[in-house]
Amino acid sequence: MSLEAMRAATVHLGGRSYPVLVGGGLLGRLGEAIDEHLSDVTGCVVVTSPSVEKLYGGRAITALEALSPGLVVVPDGEEAKTWGEAGKLLGDLIKHGLDRRGVVVALGGGSVGDSAGFAASIYMRGVRVVQVPTTLLGQVDSGVGGKTAVNHPAGKNLMGSFHQPGLVACDTGLLATLPKRELRSGLAEVAKYGVISDAILYRGVEVEAEKLLSADADALRWVVTRCVTAKARYVEADERDEKGIRAALNYGHTVGHAVETLSDHTIRHGEAVAIGMIAASRIAVNLGLLKQPDLERQITLLEALELPAESPYGVDEVLPLMRRDKKAEHGSIRLVLPTGIGTEPEVRVVSEAEIRGALA
Ligand SMILES: NC(=O)c1ccc[n+]([C@@H]2O[C@H](COP(=O)([O-])OP(=O)(O)OC[C@H]3O[C@@H](n4cnc5c(N)ncnc54)[C@H](O)[C@@H]3O)[C@@H](O)[C@H]2O)c1
Ligand SMILES: [Zn+2]
Repeated sequence: MSLEAMRAATVHLGGRSYPVLVGGGLLGRLGEAIDEHLSDVTGCVVVTSPSVEKLYGGRAITALEALSPGLVVVPDGEEAKTWGEAGKLLGDLIKHGLDRRGVVVALGGGSVGDSAGFAASIYMRGVRVVQVPTTLLGQVDSGVGGKTAVNHPAGKNLMGSFHQPGLVACDTGLLATLPKRELRSGLAEVAKYGVISDAILYRGVEVEAEKLLSADADALRWVVTRCVTAKARYVEADERDEKGIRAALNYGHTVGHAVETLSDHTIRHGEAVAIGMIAASRIAVNLGLLKQPDLERQITLLEALELPAESPYGVDEVLPLMRRDKKAEHGSIRLVLPTGIGTEPEVRVVSEAEIRGALA
């Protein structure tokens, strides 16, 4: 298959436009893809984490041979997203002699993508980054859109930048080795896209739930393609998340973040988002924005995807954390409320009484 045939979306941002490629076997053709889409590349450094390096590091290095790739391994998971690790990474880029025409290749889950993207955005005042997300969440969400970040003890993603990649390559074949729980967590974000923007995607996930759970290659390629297409539209309309359009992507995330924090991250992000989607839907039903059958349809789908729908925490535990959410302004709580399956949600300030009424 030609690489062009794997182009699932283009993020149109004028001079910073870039393609999103989706397909099996892309990792082995990364050199070719970079050659096709980025100009005057003098070299590259692959940034990855230990578990991904073990599985795919060799394949990446071989594919990038013509660019004399360096390799830097950062910790797995959130540990990669610290100020200290980002600093170390910048030092490693210097050691590898990466120059201003060099490229950082972020090979890993969203945490590698966020920290490598952040380092690339400030290294020599910014070098190009190629995102090669290896988790389902990375492929459907974090790989596209240019948000980069590291964490602070006071909170997640408190430091970061907008730095659009030059290319996103989603090799859906890499998802075969993903732990089941990570796969399910990513599927919650897929369901989210269905609810906020794509009824066909939503229906497809209902029909193919079993295949998706068993990491069926065709089913995964199809959902990743539809999700990156949707994400591209949001990013184009609201690149820096300041017009309230990109905010729709936070459906399920306000309650979700609270639940994630309360569980001390023993509940995975996607699992928490699933819980948050149902909470937001209940509020939306109470406010007359969403029909009861569309709430029930979501509960049924999340159950089919083996995701939780009910919060293990009561409203009194969840509310204080919701007030601290980034989207909360002046102590009021703003929520993304669904209006149907595949229809544009509404972002609304919701009173605590309304939240209690729906979640108690
Ligand atoms: N920038 C954005 O727009 C954006 C959007 C959403 C989430 N995020 C961030 O993404 C991070 C979460 O990303 P994540 O869910 O991908 O988790 P992750 O990066 O922590 O990866 C999860 C685990 O899967 C392993 N792994 C990755 N790919 C694998 C593969 N193909 N086979 C086997 N194991 C594999 C990793 O080593 C890790 O242990 C969070 O820090 C979040 O803030 C960023
Ligand atoms: Zn999310």
